[in-house]
Amino acid sequence: MIEIKTKQEIEYMREAGKILAACHKEIKKMIKPGITTMEIDAFVEKFLKKYNATPEEKGYMGYPYATCASVNDEICHGFPTKKPLKEGDIVTIDMVVNLNGWLADSAWSYAIGKISKEAENLMKVTKECLYRGIKKAVPGNHIGDIGYEIQTYAESLGYSVVRDYTGHGIGKKMHDDIAVPHYGRPGRGIKLREGMVITIEPMINIGTYETVEDSNGWTARTADGSLSAQYEHTLAITEDGPIILTEQD
Ligand code: MF3
Ligand code: CO
Repeated sequence: MIEIKTKQEIEYMREAGKILAACHKEIKKMIKPGITTMEIDAFVEKFLKKYNATPEEKGYMGYPYATCASVNDEICHGFPTKKPLKEGDIVTIDMVVNLNGWLADSAWSYAIGKISKEAENLMKVTKECLYRGIKKAVPGNHIGDIGYEIQTYAESLGYSVVRDYTGHGIGKKMHDDIAVPHYGRPGRGIKLREGMVITIEPMINIGTYETVEDSNGWTARTADGSLSAQYEHTLAITEDGPIILTEQD
């Protein structure tokens, strides 16, 4: 079943999203060479507690942390570690906020100090993929229109789109029935309707889109060791267009 949310329910999710966005803005200020992703994870837990919110990822199917922290060739579901981040690294911090039972999900890639031109361009293109995809999330369009937009843009610039992980419907559950691939063909897949709430979360690689999983059973990294970036928003599909519930402005 594809859930349709009321305006009130979308408002509840927006409240969760506001806390999540504020948390990302704090991470942006504190992230620098020497900090560990474990420290960021602890900060997130404390920050959410202050707002009576909880980190939904912790305990989700046994996932042990409040955040996913994916460094360089790690694509997603990286475990926070005690290893200091160093100048030139890129790291994606992904978290799901639960406020009174309603969820919001957003991942953001961060540069540690000065990074290479390649890494900078990858981050820029990945963020552009997210916003281009969001523009296609309007009633009457199909799921495939979102993926087609992202894939054609990324590939036209020589990047690859991860296929093994997708966006998803979200509400009171982290993952509901809709999968939102970041590749695809126009007009394919289910039709988007007002009241659907989904994530769009392109993972874009410099090299191959193929993934390998670490022995921890979670962390995905690029099969060729190339860099990967990711930006993710939770958004509602409305007659007035997509409303981003996790926007950081
Ligand atoms: N936040 C991720 C997503 O975008 C899900 C993380 S899985 C977890 O779908 F186990 F880490 F929670
Ligand atoms: Co996420």
